[in-house]
Amino acid sequence: MPMTVKSKDEIKAMEAVCRLAARCLEHTGRFVKAGISTNELNDIAHEYALSHGASSAPLGYHGFPKSICTSINEVVCHGVPGEEVLKEGDIINVDVTCLLNGFHGDTSATFFVGQVSERAQRVTEIALKAMEKGIEAITPFGTTGDIGFAINKFVTRNGFYPVEEIGGHGIGRKFHEEPFVPSVGKKGKGDKLLPGGCITVEPMVNETSAPLVELSIPNSTIKYYATGDKTLSAQFEHTVLITEAGPRILTLPSL
Ligand code: MF3
Ligand code: CO
Ligand code: CO
Repeated sequence: MPMTVKSKDEIKAMEAVCRLAARCLEHTGRFVKAGISTNELNDIAHEYALSHGASSAPLGYHGFPKSICTSINEVVCHGVPGEEVLKEGDIINVDVTCLLNGFHGDTSATFFVGQVSERAQRVTEIALKAMEKGIEAITPFGTTGDIGFAINKFVTRNGFYPVEEIGGHGIGRKFHEEPFVPSVGKKGKGDKLLPGGCITVEPMVNETSAPLVELSIPNSTIKYYATGDKTLSAQFEHTVLITEAGPRILTLPSL
């Protein structure tokens, strides 16, 4: 299935929602510290979206009960905000998706809670750089496999493990659209990347090759995931527009 290509006006709408999502993430990230609960982070992000005329796309999405995802330490993705309180040494991925004027902007980052271990710093740094490598591999009329190839090469060379079964996605009027954007792939394989298309690049990087554990969320068909051996996982995510000139990151607060 080819990716949807956006009109000029649709790209303008994507720029607006992605900038907002980036600012929402930046704002929420300022509150990450020991003693705050993930519910409080949820409410800060939700309030930010609402007060800027947007809504939180995760809330009610396939029954998901909260407005953001908060994935702490061994949680790989889709962690559900709750009573849990952050403690010194934790790492937490905060994943924000705003919906504005019918379009979605999706971005996440991993934050440190106070001073974290060398391993935690390392897995987080590799996840950030893996996302950057994946974005740099985007070319107009290239493929999703190019992105997966670049991410996998970088992550494995550094002694870490990319998550294969979950990845990025097309994005626009729908939260999750085709194509799937893998973190492992072959150059030239997969789906074609078209100018005017938008995708997310969001590699999850693990410390070990332990298989993931899939966990259910009450009253939701969304699953959340953790590492099978409780080792750390980190992730970053940007929404990216494919242009004739190459990738353009839309989820930047300064745009
Ligand atoms: N924001 C996540 C992503 O990057 C998706 C969360 S779906 C939810 O694709 F239902 F868990 F919110
Ligand atoms: Co996403
Ligand atoms: Co996301």
